Amino acid sequence: MGVLVVVAVLAVVLALPARGLENGLARTPPMGWLAWERFRCNVNCREDPHQCISEMLFMEMADRIAEDGWRELGYKYINIDDCWAAKQRDAEGRLVPDPERFPRGIKALADYVHARGLKLGIYGDLGRLTCGGYPGTTLDHVGQDAQTFAEWGVDMLKLDGCYSSAKEQAQGYPQMARALNATGRPIVYSCSWPAYQGGLPPKVNYTLLGEICNMWRNYDDIQDSWDSVLSIVDWFFTNQDVLQPLAGPGRWNDPDMLIIGNFGLSYEQSRSQMALWTIMAAPLLMSTDLRTILPSAKKILQNRLMIQINQDPLGIQGRRIIKEESHIEVFLRPLSQAASALVFFSRRTDMPFRYTTSLTKLGFPEGAAYEVQDVYSGKIISGLKTGDNFTVIINPSGVVMWYLCPKALLIQQQAPGGASRLPLL
Ligand code: GLA
Repeated sequence: MGVLVVVAVLAVVLALPARGLENGLARTPPMGWLAWERFRCNVNCREDPHQCISEMLFMEMADRIAEDGWRELGYKYINIDDCWAAKQRDAEGRLVPDPERFPRGIKALADYVHARGLKLGIYGDLGRLTCGGYPGTTLDHVGQDAQTFAEWGVDMLKLDGCYSSAKEQAQGYPQMARALNATGRPIVYSCSWPAYQGGLPPKVNYTLLGEICNMWRNYDDIQDSWDSVLSIVDWFFTNQDVLQPLAGPGRWNDPDMLIIGNFGLSYEQSRSQMALWTIMAAPLLMSTDLRTILPSAKKILQNRLMIQINQDPLGIQGRRIIKEESHIEVFLRPLSQAASALVFFSRRTDMPFRYTTSLTKLGFPEGAAYEVQDVYSGKIISGLKTGDNFTVIINPSGVVMWYLCPKALLIQQQAPGGASRLPLL
């Protein structure tokens, strides 16, 4: 009897998923829009009314997300970043938005966003000041600010870490997690803490972070350049042994915003950022002007199969599996239903490269056959066997991305309803 009880308890414990912040949120990587990379701390609304941090900017982005096909694809968070607040707290010590740029207040903005089926994110900073010099959340204000955000109807908080010590951060980040939970409002909690402590253990306690935050910035800010994207990719995949196991439903590494649609990336580089962020199971937070985005950038960001892969319910982060001397790199992300995604990435700067390999060389199990779909072109290769050699042509600083489904499984799944599990673009 006693043994049975122990076995039963063990079975329950072992069946539990990896422990994450149990607020039930962000079971897949959050998707939406975040102001910072594209609009920074532009508070010059007098001369630059359409590009400044004001309620109008967020309302217009909410309109675009709701009307231009983004929302249905899963992009639902409209996130404010720094420089939204007035320079002083009010008489009761509460944060207040800048009255000229947010005359209706954040509650009204949240209502506007919610009315369109979207969610609103806001920015705070654990410290004396935000990075942009606006009022920060010192330890004595943590509870009050959590309450204010909840009362306004905020759905996500990015808590930055400028102007605080390591000690204050070690106190403040868990304290904010408790304060947000205490409000009773579901609020996705995005922590910049690791980025301020070098992003790696032992200085960063990722076990704790997984328990208190839904996502976390590990590394430097993204800028509008390919160099910046590459430096982020390098850091994340160099440290994949540490970072890859951390991710899962409710807990995500955040390599920062998507800059697709801006000025720094070529077409190929834009496709590469999207593919690599998807392999990393990264949050997809666009930071671009959705009022003027070009169709080519929009098409990359709205690729259905890409988003399905990014949002895979298992939430397993992918890894770099090969670094060739030819400057080709291969990345693999395991997906649900025994499917997987492969990215072939070229760091070359000469011409399209013909890369020949086989699934055997990439570590796939022998004797299997796959249905393969090219994520960008939509082309299908049927019945690719593990041992078959194949060639992909990868453009300089570009990718080829594949979605692979084992064939036997595909047939089994097709049988009852007749509908193919292989998504079509
Ligand atoms: C830090 C963050 C950025 C942005 C700015 C705002 O640099 O890492 O993402 O929020 O602050 O000032």
